[in-house]
Amino acid sequence: MQLGTPLSQYLIEEQRLYPEATGSFTLLMNDIALACKTISAAVRKGALVDVLGNAETDNCQGEQQKKLDIIANDLFIKNNIWRGHIAAMASEEMEEVFPIPEDKPRGKYLLVFDPLDGSSNIDVDGPIGTIFSIMRSDKEHPTEEDFLQEGVKQVCAGYCLYGPATMIVISIGHGTHAFTLDPDIGEFILTHKDIQIPATSAEYSINHANRVKWEKPMLEYVQDREAGVDGKKGKRYTMRWVGAMVMDVHRILMRGGMFAYPIDEGIRAKGGRLRLMYEANPISFLVEQAGGIATTGYERILDIKPSKLHQRIPVIIGSKEEVTDILDYHKAFAAEHDLKFTHECKLYK
Ligand code: AHG
Ligand code: MN
Ligand code: MN
Repeated sequence: MQLGTPLSQYLIEEQRLYPEATGSFTLLMNDIALACKTISAAVRKGALVDVLGNAETDNCQGEQQKKLDIIANDLFIKNNIWRGHIAAMASEEMEEVFPIPEDKPRGKYLLVFDPLDGSSNIDVDGPIGTIFSIMRSDKEHPTEEDFLQEGVKQVCAGYCLYGPATMIVISIGHGTHAFTLDPDIGEFILTHKDIQIPATSAEYSINHANRVKWEKPMLEYVQDREAGVDGKKGKRYTMRWVGAMVMDVHRILMRGGMFAYPIDEGIRAKGGRLRLMYEANPISFLVEQAGGIATTGYERILDIKPSKLHQRIPVIIGSKEEVTDILDYHKAFAAEHDLKFTHECKLYK
């Protein structure tokens, strides 16, 4: 039997490219992989071990927490708190930055995560995941301000998808790679090297129930695709929506397409639906590293300077041709309404 490249080997080979590397990042990534395996084990057992259903609490964003949201958050903290690679953590499920306790060693990295993405799928045995982002810290005692770095500054972005197979997808700035968990040996094995999102596609992913509240550019794009052979692209499109960003984005990394949670009138006051620091930024990094585009419609997501930890923003990502078309609609709309537009789509033509 041929042994594929384990994640641990991939990380060490990457580390060797940097003679000055201390190995701290490699060890941190191993801790994250262990955290994901532990969450995967809990997810797989489901109702057998009483992890389904609601908790009795809301998170800081007023959303009902599921038991697994809390379990996954705790597992991520427990697996990362003691090794000395992190200065502080932050998560969807915690209002404030979580500093490494004084009695533990501190490292130079900041870890931000969405412990369980797609929570509404938990009780219906649907796909869910964990999303994470790693940045550098130059302070021993970082505050929220130190976390507010543009997405381009991420050292690593990734997610773990708990689907029919458990997969970890990461980028440390040298392409996007996917590793599949071999449950017999407990290792993530490199199965998808240097993923490239096809430039064209005939699939899009969006919550249609919000249609009446969308802005004109998104409505124009979807109406055009709905027109099928009579539309701009002269072909039939199909729509897929799982309701877990990790899964909807994973499909795009595997076979192309467009995923959007755009701005709409129902969420305008909040700034959007998805969270910049632990959803949009890591996913945008992975998508760009795989040759796709990630935008709000008006600006490149990875260039945004976050204003707060739990900031929300509109997200439109995927295949170059699809997202470039959407940017064209936004550019025209911005010109009509004197709105700021900085994501120059001609870059992608
Ligand atoms: P989370 O479970 O971490 O709160 O994230 C859910 C997100 C995202 O994964 C998904 O794309 C979106 O919420 C679905 O929102 P709607 O229920 O509004 O469609
Ligand atoms: Mn989420
Ligand atoms: Mn979540």
